[in-house]
Amino acid sequence: MKHKIIVTGGCGYIGSHTVIALIENNYDVVIIDDLSNSSDQILNRISKITSKRPTFEKVDLKDIQATNQVFEKHKNADAVIHFAAHKAVGESVQQPIKYYQNNLYTLINTLAAMAKHHINKFIFSSSATVYGIPQTLPITENNQTQRPFSPYGNTKKIAEEIIEDVVRSNTKMLAISLRYFNPIGAHESGWIGELPSGTPNNLMPFITQTAAGLREKLMVFGNDYPTKDGTPIRDYIHVVDLAEAHALALKRLLDRKVENSFEVFNIGTGEGYSVLEIIKAFESISGVVLKYEITERRAGDVPQLYADINLAKEKLGWTAKRGLKEMISSSWKWEENLRKNKNQLY
Ligand SMILES: NC(=O)c1ccc[n+]([C@@H]2O[C@H](COP(=O)([O-])OP(=O)(O)OC[C@H]3O[C@@H](n4cnc5c(N)ncnc54)[C@H](O)[C@@H]3O)[C@@H](O)[C@H]2O)c1
Repeated sequence: MKHKIIVTGGCGYIGSHTVIALIENNYDVVIIDDLSNSSDQILNRISKITSKRPTFEKVDLKDIQATNQVFEKHKNADAVIHFAAHKAVGESVQQPIKYYQNNLYTLINTLAAMAKHHINKFIFSSSATVYGIPQTLPITENNQTQRPFSPYGNTKKIAEEIIEDVVRSNTKMLAISLRYFNPIGAHESGWIGELPSGTPNNLMPFITQTAAGLREKLMVFGNDYPTKDGTPIRDYIHVVDLAEAHALALKRLLDRKVENSFEVFNIGTGEGYSVLEIIKAFESISGVVLKYEITERRAGDVPQLYADINLAKEKLGWTAKRGLKEMISSSWKWEENLRKNKNQLY
């Protein structure tokens, strides 16, 4: 019998790549998404890539009744991977309530519905933002978490605390939190990728949109950080590698191989690249010269963040297989496809 996995936010950027990895690993997938930051056209893309169409339920997980109903319908699910959240850091500073409501209600309603229907394996999308300004580099999971600068980041820290409490109260519940570093890239087909609405928060869509002529120039926020070239250093991770980490974390839960009922893993490459290094690499891979401007530092940006990935390697058997070249070329292929097929995509 195939395991049935509920993927909340499965129409989004990381969720859709993970759904593909799950289908490729022979799981039955049910996506729950309210399409607030995605489109159901992604389902056609997933079936084009995998020859399998996942079950789709359009539900706003802030709505507790609707959440219970959809879990009742799929109460034979074996596990839940929870991606559904708002993710725009800047918007969360402007509209904190929107972020606390969406990111925490969706989590609490999902955990409550899981408890009601005796579904007790859970994977959570966390973020390196929970480390705040790291005390040591590379960052191990033992680094104490700190209150993140943004309300968005704080929802991730609070969410981890909620999950820990829920796991502690229910002896059957097992949870894994994956702390992503900086996901970039797209599926090699070029059919799915990141589609930021409005001005992107993250570097790579900003770069590809500038290269595509959708933005006049790229802003580089500060070049006076204590790093090799003065620009911030981040640990970029290919979204397909990240998706594979979810499949391995899921297997660990289903095989009951966990050593603690709540486990946390960093998911990055362990290698840091500066903003200027990414710009240069993009120019050399795409052949497009980027117009950019150095501006003031952005509040809340830390100089360097890169992961110690030994725990994921040892316990999940996971390491990133794709390097910077694949990350950049797949992002660019996706952006070019978006421009070519604008009307057919979303
Ligand atoms: N992309 C990143 O850089 C990054 C980094 C660290 C962590 N994360 C986390 O990973 C997860 C996925 O991120 P992403 O980049 O794929 O984002 P995304 O916006 O592309 O995907 C999130 C999906 O959740 C859905 N959603 C939002 N609120 C919902 C609700 N109330 N009910 C049902 N569905 C809802 C959206 O429609 C969207 O399809 C998020 O939890 C995000 O915070 C992302």
